[in-house]
Amino acid sequence: MTLPITTVKTIVDRIEDGGAGIKVFRLVDPDRWQLPPFRPGAHIDLHLPGGMVRTYSLCNDPADNARYVVAVKREAAGRGGSVLLHDAIDVGDTIGVSLPRGGLDLPDDVTRFAFVAGGIGVTPFLSVAAWLKRVGRPKFTLHLIARGAPPLAHLLVPLLRSGHLVVHDTAAAARPHIAALVGRPLSDVGLGCCGPESMIGDFEQATRDWPASRVHIERFVPPPLPVDPDARPYTLALARSKLEIPVAAGQTMLSALLGVGIDIPASCCGGICGSCKVDWLEGAPIHRDRVLSPTERARSLMVCVAESAEDRLVLDL
Ligand code: FES
Repeated sequence: MTLPITTVKTIVDRIEDGGAGIKVFRLVDPDRWQLPPFRPGAHIDLHLPGGMVRTYSLCNDPADNARYVVAVKREAAGRGGSVLLHDAIDVGDTIGVSLPRGGLDLPDDVTRFAFVAGGIGVTPFLSVAAWLKRVGRPKFTLHLIARGAPPLAHLLVPLLRSGHLVVHDTAAAARPHIAALVGRPLSDVGLGCCGPESMIGDFEQATRDWPASRVHIERFVPPPLPVDPDARPYTLALARSKLEIPVAAGQTMLSALLGVGIDIPASCCGGICGSCKVDWLEGAPIHRDRVLSPTERARSLMVCVAESAEDRLVLDL
């Protein structure tokens, strides 16, 4: 059974050097139609040759529907997606992309923002910054912590010129304290962070007294999932296809579904990208993802990390 995966066909229109081992890919519709819209801070999945699916933040202004711009750092020790993009993808190649997902909530009652980014983690805030400037909400600061020359320098120029970007070069000075960048909780301030896990840990610590609705964290590496010593086997019942699929203790729903030929799109396999979302109908799921809101969890789960607290869980598949 193959699910109807909604992808958009794009071609690589341009590839630029982003410095620090980064390539910037500009993807366009083959006939130059507009691409589906996206929110500030949204991301897309790239469906790569060999069945790999990888998720990247969109770097361009959401008002620019003519292209999707993603920045990819070559990670030689990664899972292979970035190496493939760097070494095997060229201008003119075709790439299927998902519809854009996610993004930052930028409510009107938030009048100032502070974003903290580590290295390539600056990418989600580029589209946010472009959007904030364009809609006339210029009170924000983007703190970029990097060692040596900052990544994506050519995309940062407008923010440097407008005074919105503060670069903290840890080769020239000590790494700044995240708590000092964040400050005290204020009801009209919104925060965002994207970077390595150690930085996110410091950011979570610094914002523990902030209302959750004012804090956005974007991860590109899933946190390790704790091993559940009490994990039990259970059954997935698929309401539409009438299949009953056993899930062994400790096995993921995703692998059980893939094992019987149900093609679920999955990228991070760690509950942070949102690509493997499935609706559930009956039962008691245990959610372990970092992307769904409490409201969304009442209807959906991420099959790469969720479990079932009961013997049977019914999915809308
Ligand atoms: S594959 Fe990323 S959330 Fe499941």
